[in-house]
Amino acid sequence: MPCTVIVGGFFGDEGKGKIVAYLALKDRVDATVRTGSVNAGHTVVWKGKTYGLRMVPSAFVYEKCRLYVASGANVNPQVFLKEVEETGVKGRVWVDRHSSIIEAKHIEEDRATGKRIGTTGQGVGPAIADRVRRIARLAKDLPELKPYLADVPVELNRILDEGGKVLVEGTQGTFLSLIHGTYPYVTGRDTTASAVCSEAGIGPKRVTDVVVVFKAYVTRVGKGPLEGELSRDEALRRGWLERATVTGRERRAAPFNFNLAKRAIMLNTATQLAITKIDILYPECSGARTFEELSSEAKRFIREVEEKLRVPVTLIGTGPGVYDVVDRRF
Ligand code: GTP
Ligand code: IMP
Ligand code: MG
Repeated sequence: MPCTVIVGGFFGDEGKGKIVAYLALKDRVDATVRTGSVNAGHTVVWKGKTYGLRMVPSAFVYEKCRLYVASGANVNPQVFLKEVEETGVKGRVWVDRHSSIIEAKHIEEDRATGKRIGTTGQGVGPAIADRVRRIARLAKDLPELKPYLADVPVELNRILDEGGKVLVEGTQGTFLSLIHGTYPYVTGRDTTASAVCSEAGIGPKRVTDVVVVFKAYVTRVGKGPLEGELSRDEALRRGWLERATVTGRERRAAPFNFNLAKRAIMLNTATQLAITKIDILYPECSGARTFEELSSEAKRFIREVEEKLRVPVTLIGTGPGVYDVVDRRF
């Protein structure tokens, strides 16, 4: 556990937000670091409220957890400040001095040019491009972020040195990776485990666990290939039609893809798997907290995943609530 990385194994929206929130509470995590940017929305259903977090880490639900935004992240200051307010985390949330800033011009450019790929229109790609051109503004250049600035790699490595627990919160999914995904239908950064650690300033030898999160079926927003894609009507019939957290667009859907999953495990060196939304595939499993409570079909599916992918399924999502999890780690 000491340093656990959570990443998505398909095309994002696998339910990383909910898994991170659960782990933070259950394992009493000392710190968490959010990578990526505002194109990714992590949904956390907590104390009767649904949060669609785009900047503040999902681990905010555990009040003792220190919350960090990574050096490699791209910050939209308005979204960050609004979420800090909404979640009430001021005093335990920090942004790395070197994270780069999304400005209005980036959003305009993304909206004007992003249709070819079906981007989220949040300005992330253009902001990253400016960082690569070495003309980006950084968090340390913005007066409104001054109270939140920190040297995040130093803090995270200090917490680990002192025997603390750190979660690295990945965003999006393996096949949206700029390097390993379905280029050009990808996001502007590498989304795999090595890359999110690099964004956070955590070296590869510090990582103890990599949890790859898969949904019990595959969804994808925006353009790009999706093997076995169902018609909208069929997705609706199966209860697989979802809406994106950030843009409200419909997510395309397909059955669980073992070949993609195998590749995601290789690219991320998964040590554990989480499978979310088992309750959507098998409604009778809704709210289950133990493996025994799952139906025999659901158990068979989990066993098939473990046999074919050769990595233990340690966490199973049985509903949207933070504690709707079967935890097989203990
Ligand atoms: P990105 O970082 O944008 O890739 O998002 P994410 O991986 O955090 O997932 P997101 O919150 O966008 O989408 C997952 C959806 O599934 C949300 O609506 C969650 O509330 C919901 N969810 C997560 N786990 C479960 C589960 O086990 N069962 C059910 N029914 N819903 C779940
Ligand atoms: P961008 O990241 O906004 O440039 O979008 C590039 C591609 O990644 C588009 O297909 C988006 O739909 C997709 N994408 C970006 N972020 C997310 C996410 O968090 N969940 C799902 N898809 C995403
Ligand atoms: Mg999402």
